[in-house]
Amino acid sequence: MAEIKGIVLVVEDDEMQRELVSENLRQAGYQVYEAAGTREALDLANQQPVEIAVVDYKLGSESGLELIKELKRINPIITPVMVTAFASIETAVEAIKQGAYDYVVKPVDFQKFLLILERARERFRLKREVAELRNRLEEKFSFKNFVFVSKAMERVASLISRAARSEATALITGETGTGKDLIARLIHFSSSRSAGPFMAVNLPSIPETLVESELFGAEKGAYTDARERKIGKFEAADGGTLFLDEIGDLSPAVQVKLLRFLQDREFYRLGSTKPLKADVRIIAATNRNLEKLVSEEKFRADLYYRLNVIRIDVPPLRERKEDIALLVDHFIREYSRREKKNIRGISAEALDLLMKHDFPGNVRELENAVERAVIFAEGEIITRADLPVFLEIKSEQQLAGQERDSSKPLTDRVRELEIREIRRALEKSGGVKSRAARLLGITERMLSYKMKIYGL
Ligand SMILES: Nc1ncnc2c1ncn2[C@@H]1O[C@H](COP(=O)(O)OP(=O)(O)OP(=O)(O)O)[C@@H](O)[C@H]1O
Ligand SMILES: [Mg+2]
Repeated sequence: MAEIKGIVLVVEDDEMQRELVSENLRQAGYQVYEAAGTREALDLANQQPVEIAVVDYKLGSESGLELIKELKRINPIITPVMVTAFASIETAVEAIKQGAYDYVVKPVDFQKFLLILERARERFRLKREVAELRNRLEEKFSFKNFVFVSKAMERVASLISRAARSEATALITGETGTGKDLIARLIHFSSSRSAGPFMAVNLPSIPETLVESELFGAEKGAYTDARERKIGKFEAADGGTLFLDEIGDLSPAVQVKLLRFLQDREFYRLGSTKPLKADVRIIAATNRNLEKLVSEEKFRADLYYRLNVIRIDVPPLRERKEDIALLVDHFIREYSRREKKNIRGISAEALDLLMKHDFPGNVRELENAVERAVIFAEGEIITRADLPVFLEIKSEQQLAGQERDSSKPLTDRVRELEIREIRRALEKSGGVKSRAARLLGITERMLSYKMKIYGL
């Protein structure tokens, strides 16, 4: 059987007309459900995975427009196409206002009709993708994925929910990998703006000359590369949240423009004198010391005060080690699901190793360590041997003198460890060097070099 083109519900009270349309659609490869009236149509839409609804404007005494509204209530991504006997603009406009994607006029020109349906199907798929993505995002950025037991993080969590209930600008500070990004998204997705866009701008990753057009947009010809009008992130984030990551890196010129936006909610596209408005909530983050930058006059004090309305300081992981066990558990679950492995926990010894580590890379570093351990682990429990080499080295240093092997020089022990880890990675990757290198967190060149010197 040929592939189904799409699932269509045909709602038409005139039986002859309904059968004609349905038969044509079946011939064209659609799966078709038929309904003679509103009631039947809603039942079908409730029970079947309807993608497109072809709805007659007049369904006896019932209104096709009303039905479209009802259908959208059942499933907001159903894509309705209206069929009408009168080719009036008002009808069409009304239909589209009620949520119809397009309309066709009777007598139906089937070639045109099929084209419209194809586009409607395309639209449906897009909407479904967006809906799925949104669900995944909401799942990913829900509070149940924000893990902590420490008092310090409890304070952070309460600030997050306060920020979510407010429209005020928020400033998130903390070392790299402490969760600033995650927190910004949590605020957005639990705020009243959650249905709007969340736009993130990582300032250091944008060349300085392009920051302004990236943020505020640019008119055609505003600068040498501007071949077309460019919509900036402020406009794109309208109705939602704009996350300005690494705000400490903002140039003085852009600082002024951001300040103006925060004061008047207005901005200008590059090369334009027309002020634009955007309904955008700003969340900023930095791992630099903004107060110090202010005192050194590298960051405007007035901008700092505008940003610093809700302040969230995220403590480094080493100052809240009681969170480690829970985070490890969380990441084990997440990554064993992803890797389709059945890993249930971590050995006391391995956890101990993690508890002793300083985590300069904070939660991100811990997450990476657990991810790799999950990939390496042979059994259901992560053991010390599954953890990355650097943790082991660190602990070997710390434990020097206490362990049975401590008579050997450190370099020998490191060497043994490296050989063991490389062998294991090569085994895991079926001998594929690039993958083994990735597992080890080193470059393929480095791996080749080490294999050579160790004679592997
Ligand atoms: N409390 C937490 N619970 C669960 N996961 C967390 C937590 N904190 C951080 N993470 C995870 O740790 C990783 C790093 O966090 P994130 O990217 O938010 O850090 P960051 O502070 O923005 O770092 P950088 O300054 O380098 O941009 C992410 O995968 C994030 O999901
Ligand atoms: Mg970040």
